Amino acid sequence: MIKSAKWISPNEAAEDICYEFRRDFKAADGAKAIIEVTAMGVYDIILNGEKIGENVLAPGWTSYETRHQYQRYSAVLHEHNSIVITVGKGWYRSPLMGSNIEKIKKVPAVIATIKFENNLICTDKDWYCKESNIRFSEIYDGEKVDFTVDTSKIFSVTQLDVSLDNLILQEGENITEHEKIKPKAIINTPKGETVIDFGQEITGYVQVEVDTNYGDEIIMSHAEVLDADGNFYTENYRAAKAKLNYICDAGKKVLKPRMTFFGFRYIRLDKYPVKANINNFTAIAVYSDLQKTGTISSGHTMLNKLIKNAFWGQKCNFLDIPTDCPQRNERLGWTGDAQVFCKTASYNFNVLNFFKKWLKDMSAEQLKSGAIPHVIPNTELDAGSAAWDDAAVIIPWQMYMTYGDIEVLENQFDCMKKYIDFITNSTHDEFLWTGGNHFGDWLGLDAPVGSYKGSSRDDFIASAYYAHSTELFVKIGKILNKDMSFYEHLYIKIVKAFKERYSEFFTQTEYILALVFGLVDNEKKVACELAEKVILDGTKIQTGFVGTPYILHALSDYGYSKLSYDLLLREKFPSWLYPITKGATTIWEHWDGIMEDGLFWSSEMNSFNHYAYGSVLDWIYEVAGGIKIVKPGFDEIIINPHPDKRLGWLTVNIKTRYGELVSFWEVVDDEIRYEITTPTKATIVIGDVKTVVNPGKYIFFGKYKD
Ligand code: BGC
Repeated sequence: MIKSAKWISPNEAAEDICYEFRRDFKAADGAKAIIEVTAMGVYDIILNGEKIGENVLAPGWTSYETRHQYQRYSAVLHEHNSIVITVGKGWYRSPLMGSNIEKIKKVPAVIATIKFENNLICTDKDWYCKESNIRFSEIYDGEKVDFTVDTSKIFSVTQLDVSLDNLILQEGENITEHEKIKPKAIINTPKGETVIDFGQEITGYVQVEVDTNYGDEIIMSHAEVLDADGNFYTENYRAAKAKLNYICDAGKKVLKPRMTFFGFRYIRLDKYPVKANINNFTAIAVYSDLQKTGTISSGHTMLNKLIKNAFWGQKCNFLDIPTDCPQRNERLGWTGDAQVFCKTASYNFNVLNFFKKWLKDMSAEQLKSGAIPHVIPNTELDAGSAAWDDAAVIIPWQMYMTYGDIEVLENQFDCMKKYIDFITNSTHDEFLWTGGNHFGDWLGLDAPVGSYKGSSRDDFIASAYYAHSTELFVKIGKILNKDMSFYEHLYIKIVKAFKERYSEFFTQTEYILALVFGLVDNEKKVACELAEKVILDGTKIQTGFVGTPYILHALSDYGYSKLSYDLLLREKFPSWLYPITKGATTIWEHWDGIMEDGLFWSSEMNSFNHYAYGSVLDWIYEVAGGIKIVKPGFDEIIINPHPDKRLGWLTVNIKTRYGELVSFWEVVDDEIRYEITTPTKATIVIGDVKTVVNPGKYIFFGKYKD
């Protein structure tokens, strides 16, 4: 349907203003209509004064050049109808980190069809435009709305001669409004600022109900944290202005932005015409409408808070694409972050469609060389870093493992192949991955002074991932009935070359990768050395983005689960629980975003809402709770819980495609009681005893040993 229409844009458009594309038409009262729409920017639709659809920030973010989503809505018409599609810059036209300002399109455009009875109304020259009250709206900088401006002038539209081949029906979930959070407190800071604390960092926006006089102005700024003195802190937003500005007319109104979003916990009222009443403010969380599938809770209060924060980290950063952070001037689909978090993500929520969509954008953006751009959709940042590019193989594999979906493997097979070949063709040393520019063990705590990269060797990490991705690629090819003999041999040679080159490990992350990717012969000895190293390092993590998701697994896989728990439950810096002692409500980018003395790690790169380290939840699901997938899609499972007294009890619950899987244990004195509900045939392992069970609920008892 939509391909019968033409893209239209206003004649003589000003760059910043959000335009309304309008059409008035007649229909039989009560006639049912199907509306298809998309925009170069983000849009909303008002039909006869009412918003159509519950989604916001449509059409979402894809590699627009090749894959531009449109949405389909149903509506009921009146006799006289007026449709208004308002278009903001969105991701399509806002300056984003890495994007070439010269290339950004300046003009808003829309394409739409309205089908009802035997009529098809298409965007064409019969439509007209008006300026809206939204005078400015950008992803990083926020929104300005002026209710006093005269918007009555009518503009004609131009039809754009643009190919429609890239238009695709929406593939991912809608972006919708979720939690509505009332403020916890109104604060008068030492600097004299009026700040509202919502008590939870979210991605979304603030709605305010206010009664104003004509010309009154409201300006609100957003922040994640207050500084050590208790003042509003925005430096870590870097160049993102993240402001909301309203110039009001007279009367009561409910205000919220329509074309942008923010990452924040606090707002500052820079200008507010009346005495602020906190009951008039609501923070609205906005994210992709994913079905929640995972629940974890325990008898350990701090751990429960970490779990909650990791869920918030995901909600805040799963806004149509997996973003690194929602607040500063990035908010981009960093591949490495998504790679390390995808397993946890897939247990917490059903992210199959979400990732399938994003992975197709990855294929679309893959460079000719086979390298994967660092961010998808690509804003023209660089490409080709180990652990980041490996998202091309690891994420489809994880989607297959969690959901049993073969299509994602089929969709991504060519992209994976090109990526593995890119490594083979670009490395300096055959069968290893040497050379190139890598992020290394990004933000590892063993980083040399002044560097963001942990001390693990780049070539080591890159070669380990070369092995791991090739191994997975071979498995994937075989599932798809392809001849994988070339890559099987390649894998054998990579492992051999790796073992020859790297017989010693110097960092926690080097030990971890060698173990979890199966790159050592004497695993037990290496695991023991890792455990010793961790203890020697002060029973502390030293890992960054690469080592952190695997460290607890690497230890518990070889019998050191008590040590894994020591790391998990540590409260002093550095640890997962340390940020909670500093009031974290999401997962931080840095282990020491706020340092022990209360000062910030840096202002340059210090997000308080980065989901990557929330990947620790997969260890809680798989090891503490003990739920392990043996055959993809939970076709076969092992349930092998690892209780620890310090938690008291733990319950882990995953909604699988067969039904709910629950693993509960409780330690009372030295007795452990297990309650396991499985929707499929499962092998339950309690201590040394294995029991194969049919679907049902089972209770076991065991003795607790320290
Ligand atoms: C992002 C990261 C990302 C990294 C790559 C940062 O600026 O926020 O999460 O993976 O760059 O180096």
